[in-house]
Amino acid sequence: MSEKINVRKFLKKKELKEKIVMITAYDAPFARAADEAGVDSILVGDSMAMVMLGMENTLQISLEEMIEHTRAVARVKPKALLVGDMPFMSYETGTARALESGALFVKAGADAVKLEGGEEVTEQIRALVRAGIPVMGHIGLTPQRFLKLGGYRMIGKKKEEEEQIYRDAEAVQEAGAFSVVLEYVVSDIAKRITQKLSIPTICIGAGPHCDGQVLVLHDVLGLSAQSPPFAKRYADLYSIARDAISRYAKEVRSGEFPSPEYYK
Ligand code: KIV
Repeated sequence: MSEKINVRKFLKKKELKEKIVMITAYDAPFARAADEAGVDSILVGDSMAMVMLGMENTLQISLEEMIEHTRAVARVKPKALLVGDMPFMSYETGTARALESGALFVKAGADAVKLEGGEEVTEQIRALVRAGIPVMGHIGLTPQRFLKLGGYRMIGKKKEEEEQIYRDAEAVQEAGAFSVVLEYVVSDIAKRITQKLSIPTICIGAGPHCDGQVLVLHDVLGLSAQSPPFAKRYADLYSIARDAISRYAKEVRSGEFPSPEYYK
């Protein structure tokens, strides 16, 4: 029987050159499925805002909503490392706010937190790590800053952006993060960062050279209304759900359901 994955085991995977598998989950049933499938890490991502709660972007989700769903995933007691995603404005204003928010995630059952940003959030990362809360960084495309970035676009095509990503990667590692997500970064840049850093890099839309990959569950299962170009769909659960519900509706209307075995 495999054991609980902690931050040390996560780091060891880079040393052993074992690919790290991460996926998002936001509720108990899908967290159980992900854990039984043997992923290394479950992220309660703020992507939940869009794929679960129908919001327009990730700026709209609250800390309370993130904590409630982290608690739901934690109830499954996953073996996978459970990472809670710190939402917009739960850490940017300073270390005190970051510590208060980080503590709520850990009390809800998270093994670690993730926050977006590079050089500009190193104080927050340092404070969280000093308080005993492991931190996963997130650089490249940071969706919480899509207004400033001018949309959801690949990062690193311009020289200044490329230089900034290298600085961010080093800064996040130096501040004490145990791992870093590289989102929608030019693949060659992700490769070089992965070679340079001693902590694992987890890619999404940044090519095959990272130490691991992460995808949004609803993109993988075909439940998202819209998916980014880099997300591979492994199933079409939306059609399966719609067809099952429509068969149920048809049977109720025709009187076929409930048949005697359902009301004995
Ligand atoms: O919120 C999320 O799902 C994420 C992943 C895309 C890394 O941050």
